[in-house]
Amino acid sequence: MSVPKVTVVGAGFVGAGVAERILEKELAHVVLIDIIEGMPQGKALDMMESSPIEGFKTTIVGTNDYKATKDSDVVVITAGLARKPGMSRDDLQTKNAEIVGGIVTEVARHSPNSVLILVTNPLDVMTYLAWKKSGFDHKRVFGMAGVLDSARYAYFLSLELGVPTRQIDAMVLGGHGDSMVPAPEHTKVNGKSITELLSKEKIESINQRTRDGGIEIVNLLKSGSAYYAPSSSAVAMVQAVLQDTGRVFPSCVYLTGQYGIRDTYCGVPAKLGRLGVKEVVELGLTREAQSALKQSAEHVREQCAKLNL
Ligand code: NAI
Ligand code: 2OP
Repeated sequence: MSVPKVTVVGAGFVGAGVAERILEKELAHVVLIDIIEGMPQGKALDMMESSPIEGFKTTIVGTNDYKATKDSDVVVITAGLARKPGMSRDDLQTKNAEIVGGIVTEVARHSPNSVLILVTNPLDVMTYLAWKKSGFDHKRVFGMAGVLDSARYAYFLSLELGVPTRQIDAMVLGGHGDSMVPAPEHTKVNGKSITELLSKEKIESINQRTRDGGIEIVNLLKSGSAYYAPSSSAVAMVQAVLQDTGRVFPSCVYLTGQYGIRDTYCGVPAKLGRLGVKEVVELGLTREAQSALKQSAEHVREQCAKLNL
C-alpha cells in the first residue's frame, strides 16, 4: 500500500509539532512548507536526523515551493500570526485572512483532491474562508478546535475528579473563542454524566477555565500560544482521515441546517474519514446549550461578514 502524503503549511510551533507527530506515528510522508527560507528545510532535516533514534520510516521534506506539495492527500494549514497577551483570536483575523487566502489558492491548484484541515485562528472564520477560496466540497474542508477544547475540558475535569483522562469523554461545541459551548450533559466519566458528579457551580468554573484555556497558556508563555495539545489534536484528525476511521470528533464543519444552523462553519461532533466529513452527529442539547450554540454560530457569521465572505 502506498504511503499517503500530508502537507503542513506553516513550520512554526504548531506546524512543526504536527509534522513531528505524523512522522513518529508513521502516518504519512510529510511536506513542511513556510515562507521563511531555510527554516522548514532546517526543521525537516533535524527531524530526519531523529529517525535512526525514533525508528520511523516515513520521511519529511522542508520547502518554500508549492511544487513539492503536489497531490497531497491531506493539507494542514497552521500558517499565520499567533496571539500575544491582550489579544483575542479575532484580533488576528485581517492579517491571517490574507495569509490563509493566498495559501489556499496554491493548495487547491497543487492538490485539488486533498482534504484541508484548518488550524490558523480565528479558526471558524479561516475555515469558512478556506472553503470559499478552495472551491472544494465543504465536506473536504474542516477545522480543528473542538478536539483541543474538549481535551482541555477533560484534563481540567480529571484534576477535579482525580480520575485518569482516558476515563473521560468530554465534549465542547461552538466556535473556537469566548463563545465556545462546553456540554456537561454530553461529558462523561466512565459513562456517567458530570452533571451527576459535580455541582453546577463547580461545572461552571471548569467550563470557564476551558473557555479561557488558550489565553491561560498565552499569558504563561508571554509570546506565542499553545502548540503541544494543538498539534496532538490536529494529528488525531489527520489520522481519522488517512485511515478512514469514521471516528467522531468535535470539528469545525459547514452546517446545512443541523442544530438549526445553516450556511456557516461551527464546532459540532462529526464523523471523519477519507473524504473528510462523513456525517454531522446531532446530539440532543438542552435549550440553554442549543441557544448558546446558535449565538456562537452567529458570532462566526458576523466575523465572516467583516471579510465580505
Ligand atoms: P508560529 O508563529 O510559531 O508559526 C506560524 C508560521 O506561519 C511561521 O513560521 C510563519 O513564517 C508561517 N507563515 C506566515 N505566513 C505564511 C505563508 N504565507 N505561507 C506559509 N507560512 C507562513 O505560530 P503557531 O504557534 O504555530 O500558530 C499558528 C496559528 O495556529 C496561529 O494563528 C494560532 O493562533 C493558531 N492556533 C490555532 C489553534 C486551534 O485550536 N485552532 C491552536 C493553536 C494555534
Ligand atoms: C488555543 O486555544 C491559540 O487557539 C489557540 O490555544
